[in-house]
Amino acid sequence: MNLIEKLNWRYATKRMNGQVVSDSSLNNILEAMQLAPSSMGLQPFTFIVISNKELLQKINAQACQQPQILEASHVIVLAAWKSITEKSINDYIQNIADTRGTTLESLEGFKNMLLPMSKRTDEVNNNWAARQAYIALGFGLVAAANEGVDATPMEGFNPVALDELLGLKEKNLGSIALMPVGFRNAESDYLVNTKKVRRDKKDLFIFMS
Ligand SMILES: Cc1cc2nc3c(=O)[nH]c(=O)nc-3n(C[C@H](O)[C@H](O)[C@H](O)COP(=O)(O)O)c2cc1C
Repeated sequence: MNLIEKLNWRYATKRMNGQVVSDSSLNNILEAMQLAPSSMGLQPFTFIVISNKELLQKINAQACQQPQILEASHVIVLAAWKSITEKSINDYIQNIADTRGTTLESLEGFKNMLLPMSKRTDEVNNNWAARQAYIALGFGLVAAANEGVDATPMEGFNPVALDELLGLKEKNLGSIALMPVGFRNAESDYLVNTKKVRRDKKDLFIFMS
């Protein structure tokens, strides 16, 4: 299958069959999320990968009892940073210096561009961080399709209760989306053979040539 065929193959899976995703596929999905671009490259998000069944029961109770949570192999919780601190900016600058073998002095100008972010309100920063995390969600969905693994983007959960359950607030994190990964249950999923509903390209795109 080429990429477009894989994107047609994937769908927001409602029922999964409990089969476990291989380490290799899971790693590729996570690596694609790691490789997602983010504004300034800061990656103001953290992903929690959960396979513990007891914990998934508790998450299910906070996610409108949606069955994918219990039937998935793993559930990836995408969490955005609640605030952006000077330390997180300094850590990022250090990472660039280490990775590219450059000096901290040469990155001073870039750091000064980033630092005002630490003065913005937490609300602004958390909203901004969530927008970055959604790009990683998209990368994860495409990577899952590429692996022949089903995945469901999910916002249907109580983020306040989930943050409490996973102790995210103490980690400066707020959950924004869930992504269960696993394999479709073709017998019980009513969506398995339904056609994709999308707006027509002529309405979706405006070409200015
Ligand atoms: C941000 C976001 C949140 C969503 N939340 C849920 C959800 O809680 N439960 C669910 O079953 N599907 C959820 N969906 C799936 C959408 O309904 C689905 O992607 C859309 O109808 C398009 O269908 P397709 O993904 O099967 O092509 C969500 C999708 C996105 C992008």
